[in-house]
Amino acid sequence: MIRWGNAIGVAARTPLFLLLRGPLGAGKSVLARSIAQGAGVEGAVPSPTFNLVFRYPSSRGVEVVHMDLYRLSDPSELWELGWQELGGQDELVLVEWPDRAEGMLPEHRWEITLGPVAGDREARMVSVSRFGVPQDLPGFPVSVDL
Ligand SMILES: Nc1ncnc2c1ncn2[C@@H]1O[C@H](COP(=O)(O)OP(=O)(O)OP(=O)(O)O)[C@@H](O)[C@H]1O
Ligand SMILES: [Mg+2]
Repeated sequence: MIRWGNAIGVAARTPLFLLLRGPLGAGKSVLARSIAQGAGVEGAVPSPTFNLVFRYPSSRGVEVVHMDLYRLSDPSELWELGWQELGGQDELVLVEWPDRAEGMLPEHRWEITLGPVAGDREARMVSVSRFGVPQDLPGFPVSVDL
C-alpha cells in the first residue's frame, strides 16, 4: 500500500482531487501519507483527524492538502474549511471520509475505495473510480510502476 501510494504521488499531476473511502482502519491515512511523500512532502504527515485540514508544500511545487472529514458534524462547516477554494492549479487534494461532504463533492475527481479482505488482516481490496470528463482529469496515474 505504501509503495502504491508513493508511486501515485510521484506520478500524480495537479490539479487533482482524490477521495479516499473505506471503513475505520481501512488504510486511508496510510495511503494519503504515502501519496504525499511520493509527491515530495518531506517529514511526517500526521493524521489530520483532529484538525480536519493539513497543508504541505512539497519540494516539487505541489501543495498537498490532506483533509479528514470524519468529525465534520454538518456539511455547512465545509465553508469554514475553505472547501470551495480547493482545486488550485498546484493542489493535490486528498480527502478521507468524503461522504461527510456528499452533495458538495467536485464533479471531476478520482476516488479510491479500500476494504477489508476476509481472513487476511494485512490485505486490502482496492478500487479506483473516475468521475467527470476524462480530459479534465489528467492528474491521476492510471498505471504506476511498483
Ligand atoms: N495493507 C494495508 N494497507 C493499509 N493499512 C494497513 C494494511 N495492513 C495493515 N494496515 C494497518 O491498518 C491500519 C490503517 O490505519 P489508517 O489510520 O490508515 O486507517 P484509516 O482508513 O485512515 O482510518 P480512519 O477512518 O480512522 O481515518 C494501520 O494500523 C496500518 O498499519
Ligand atoms: Mg484516517
